[in-house]
Amino acid sequence: NKLPIDEQTELLPYDKRWEFPRNRLTLGIQLGTGCFGRVVKAEAVGIKGSDEIVKTVAVKMVRSQSNVAAMEALISELKILIHLGSHLNVVNLLGACTKKISKGELLIIVEYCRFGNLQSYLVNHRSSFINLVDEFGNMRSNNEAEEFDYMLRDECFGNTSSEDNDLVSHVTKSLGSSSGRNSLDYECPEMSSLEIMEDALVTESFWQYQQDPDVTLNRPISTRDLISWSYQIARGMDYLASRKVLHGDLAARNVLLADDGVVKVADFGMAKKMYYEGNYEKSGQGLMPVKWMAIESLTDRIFSSQSDVWSFGVLLWELFSLGKLPYPGMEAGHLLIKTIQQGYRMEKPDNAPNFFGEILSNCWKTDPKDRPTFSQLEATICSHMESSI
Ligand code: ADE
Repeated sequence: NKLPIDEQTELLPYDKRWEFPRNRLTLGIQLGTGCFGRVVKAEAVGIKGSDEIVKTVAVKMVRSQSNVAAMEALISELKILIHLGSHLNVVNLLGACTKKISKGELLIIVEYCRFGNLQSYLVNHRSSFINLVDEFGNMRSNNEAEEFDYMLRDECFGNTSSEDNDLVSHVTKSLGSSSGRNSLDYECPEMSSLEIMEDALVTESFWQYQQDPDVTLNRPISTRDLISWSYQIARGMDYLASRKVLHGDLAARNVLLADDGVVKVADFGMAKKMYYEGNYEKSGQGLMPVKWMAIESLTDRIFSSQSDVWSFGVLLWELFSLGKLPYPGMEAGHLLIKTIQQGYRMEKPDNAPNFFGEILSNCWKTDPKDRPTFSQLEATICSHMESSI
């Protein structure tokens, strides 16, 4: 029983208690699409954990019902979700429609996170960002920060209504809208040798999230939100690691923002299984999140919770650079991998408090054993939160 959980999925049972009647699910607009799958918004009548009669949910499905590999990956993701159990900082399973699975229809119903993915959210909120870190990388003291908060919010929104000032009390809540990604996050490898093709075949990113037109709320974000999200992601990932589930594709685009400033890790299972089986190569659309991958994953195809920790470091870099593409100006290819192998690492973004500098360099230690665990990361970030929030 030593296989990682995603390699055991054939052995995992499907629990019929998750079955949700297809006729109580009404599919709506598309929220995201990728090479293999699609996510749509939907309404579910009387679904798990809801007192509401109708609940808004997100439904994941394959894009082409004849793509057997994509179908298998989705089945394995469903089994992983069932095995995982629920956690606040994970996009939880609500149900599944498996009755027409032989016809290629499998619908996985998960929690809907109405503010979309963090990467788009950060980019959309750059102009109103409230930086509570001074020029030396220190957090401003509480009083100073509050004054600074007010000052900047006035600058951003004008000091015309009292509603604007009320925003200060919402500082750890982040509400707003999201829109589609515009940068290519994945590069294309030659899977057999894991060498990166110079001539990338990539024409679209793995997932492309669209804006949900129902979301119009918009509030600024501050350093405190970024720290709170870092902490929550570490918690979600610690839960995954404790259940022996590897994410394999942790990045800001795969973290979703729900109500009350809660962030949830999404999309585990699918991508990772694809790497193992090398299906990308066959489909001719191989996609690898090179800039998020740990050095041992790139060179030796070794994936572990400790390689997820490396990706978490890159995700922190994305958070504090407000959604920039990592390794700016560098192409995800041979040269980048070689440069990282030679010891090159990104610098702490200016907006990140100093203690994140150490967290980043620890997450990016060459030996996976030298990196902190998610549980240690959670504790470290928490200890700094107490003194800075
Ligand atoms: N886009 C992809 N998955 C989503 C989800 N669960 N909630 C909202 N938007 C999404």
